[in-house]
Amino acid sequence: MKIKFAVVGCGSIGKRHVAVLDANPEIEIVALCDSQIETARALSELYGNIPVYSSFDEMLKNIQADVINVVTPHALHSEQSIAALKAGFNVLVEKPMSLSVEEANRMNDTAAACGKKLWVVKQNRFNVPVILAEQAIREGWLGKIFMVKCDVLWNRYQGYYDDSPWRGKIEKEGGALFTQASHFIDLLIWWCGNVVSVKAKAATQNHSIETEDSGVAVMEFENGALGSLVWTTCVYEKNYEGSITIIGEKGSIKIGGAYLNKIEFWNVEGHELDSNIDFNDKPNAYGKYQGTSSNHDKVIAGIVKEIQTGIGQNVEGIEGVRSIDAIEKIYANILQ
Ligand SMILES: NC(=O)c1ccc[n+]([C@@H]2O[C@H](COP(=O)([O-])OP(=O)(O)OC[C@H]3O[C@@H](n4cnc5c(N)ncnc54)[C@H](O)[C@@H]3O)[C@@H](O)[C@H]2O)c1
Repeated sequence: MKIKFAVVGCGSIGKRHVAVLDANPEIEIVALCDSQIETARALSELYGNIPVYSSFDEMLKNIQADVINVVTPHALHSEQSIAALKAGFNVLVEKPMSLSVEEANRMNDTAAACGKKLWVVKQNRFNVPVILAEQAIREGWLGKIFMVKCDVLWNRYQGYYDDSPWRGKIEKEGGALFTQASHFIDLLIWWCGNVVSVKAKAATQNHSIETEDSGVAVMEFENGALGSLVWTTCVYEKNYEGSITIIGEKGSIKIGGAYLNKIEFWNVEGHELDSNIDFNDKPNAYGKYQGTSSNHDKVIAGIVKEIQTGIGQNVEGIEGVRSIDAIEKIYANILQ
């Protein structure tokens, strides 16, 4: 029997969710919801007229599904995920899972109380270079990790903010740490543990928006590693780099490219990098700007497998809350 999915939020990445779900032969898309009904309808028409809703509550009342993909702006993630969990659905929520630890905890508590799964999209964990670095860390090849250096040096043009009712707004987006840097923060804390102390500077340098578009943070992690994070959406014309460098006792690795898609340096004791590896991760392309990797198909395949077999290693909300905690700590420790 096919696994039934429904999607709320048919915008930039909602379209990618629908394309990925449609391409998976084990999945049936039972409904689409967008408060702009024309947006949902236009998408539905591309995929054989999937039933559409403008009200999320109406959709929840009227459908039978295994999973609801919550792909709306950040500030809606917690209330919509909680509503779907309470209505008896499993949920796959886009990053960031929420705009506060308090909200994320409520989402996780609701999932536990309802006996439902709450998964969070972390598709960069499937990037080929990320899998290689993760193996090196997990197997202890790098020894003690001394330092991590993360650079998110990207471009977002002013229209990216102007054309959106939520981007660049403090209440609705939170800031670039939630939108752009959260992918990278997830990996830093996956490998080094939670942030235990941090100091940061942030600024709005080249956009007319409420939130920061640039910042620098220095951090200490649970495993004792020191780290730096430089994030910006002010790079001229196009994304320049999305990278993480790991400096360990027995090796150094730099994952780079524009979106964690290459190994730029690998020098690990006793472990050469295989020269035949196919670095085939592609970015999400949105016309005038480019996002991070497009490995949503792997996230969805993992969830299908977990529903079918009861076994899975998909990222759940109890893991997702850790990046929210790190982001909250960075914002709380911005030096004036
Ligand atoms: N994993 C990734 O790489 C990735 C990439 C892009 C976006 N995202 C995340 O996905 C989410 C959506 O981002 P986007 O770029 O697609 O935004 P978007 O603004 O392009 O699309 C959001 C859609 O949600 C709809 N919407 C708003 N309020 C709604 C409501 N109450 N009920 C139903 N629909 C509603 C809007 O009409 C719009 O069509 C964000 O949280 C973002 O961080 C993740």
